[in-house]
Amino acid sequence: MMITESERSRLRDLLSMLREGEGGKYVSGEYISRALDISREAVWKYISMLRRRYGYRIDAKPRVGYMLVHRPDKLYPWEIMLELGRSDMVKEIIYYDEVESTQDVALRLAEQGRDSILVVAERQSRGRGRASRRWISPEGGVWFSLIIKPRISVRDVTLLSLATALAVCNTINGKFNLDARIKWPNDVIINYKKVAGILIDMSIEHDTINYAVVGIGVNANVSIDSIERMIGHADKNHYYGSTSLMNELGRAVDRVMLLASLLRELEHIYSRLAYKDEMLAAIRATIMLGPVHVIEGEGDDDALTIDGVAVDVDDDGSLLVKSDGMVKKVTSGYVHVRYV
Ligand code: BTN
Repeated sequence: MMITESERSRLRDLLSMLREGEGGKYVSGEYISRALDISREAVWKYISMLRRRYGYRIDAKPRVGYMLVHRPDKLYPWEIMLELGRSDMVKEIIYYDEVESTQDVALRLAEQGRDSILVVAERQSRGRGRASRRWISPEGGVWFSLIIKPRISVRDVTLLSLATALAVCNTINGKFNLDARIKWPNDVIINYKKVAGILIDMSIEHDTINYAVVGIGVNANVSIDSIERMIGHADKNHYYGSTSLMNELGRAVDRVMLLASLLRELEHIYSRLAYKDEMLAAIRATIMLGPVHVIEGEGDDDALTIDGVAVDVDDDGSLLVKSDGMVKKVTSGYVHVRYV
């Protein structure tokens, strides 16, 4: 069912008032109607909408008011906006209960010249991973794509993916006290298992980036058993194990809080992209180094492989791998790195 832009902003304002009293205080209907400049009937209409259509539990006491008892575990745009606050990076949110891929929706909008849009979904039926692989996206994850116009040179695109992975690590580590690391060039792992993946599609003209669509999938509250069951045989080629935040923490996380914190961190890190030394230092402190097996190409028989030890990240973002006494530069592309 469609909801208009003004209904959406009313819901947000109403929820922001109800949140103040969440779990303990009633907010009077009269107060809400005055503050939002709508009739008491309209207040009731929005309360019913929140309850029936969106699954909120709101207690209503005659002559006293309304109390928010329970918020559904959904990434509703008004919830994200309330948690995020002011943002220059996200001006609009497009929400789906289910969509084929948020990345494809965002790409179509970016091609029309749209910017600063977040596309988010509870589930994706055709989630895309890197190198045309599938990305399993059941309920409980945080699956989103963001249109940005980064002011960086094409030469620094690897840094953009590393910086994005850094933002994911910082958020996970800061909020949940875990040890998430960047798996070069843009996966996020905890104990060698993948907890989040990043896919960046870009439109480039000459040496400038017209736009980038940053797609991020975080296994937040997904059950790992269900992911492993859904992974087809073909995808197992490059598979090295998955985990989720719920799996690591033994409890579900607040996905709205996670997404809003991640967006704030991305906005902060993207604003620092030009400070390359600072960015590289943070990336170097968060990247997983050590013994690796690198496969260039799609793993066919004649694919180039390197066995060595990942020792550092070069200034342009490539991975430096020491092998046979030499340091080799692994640049981004169809490269698969496996820790051994
Ligand atoms: C990878 O690790 O291969 C990248 C995974 C990227 C998944 C995200 S989920 C949101 C967005 N929509 C997609 O279809 N893919 C990205």
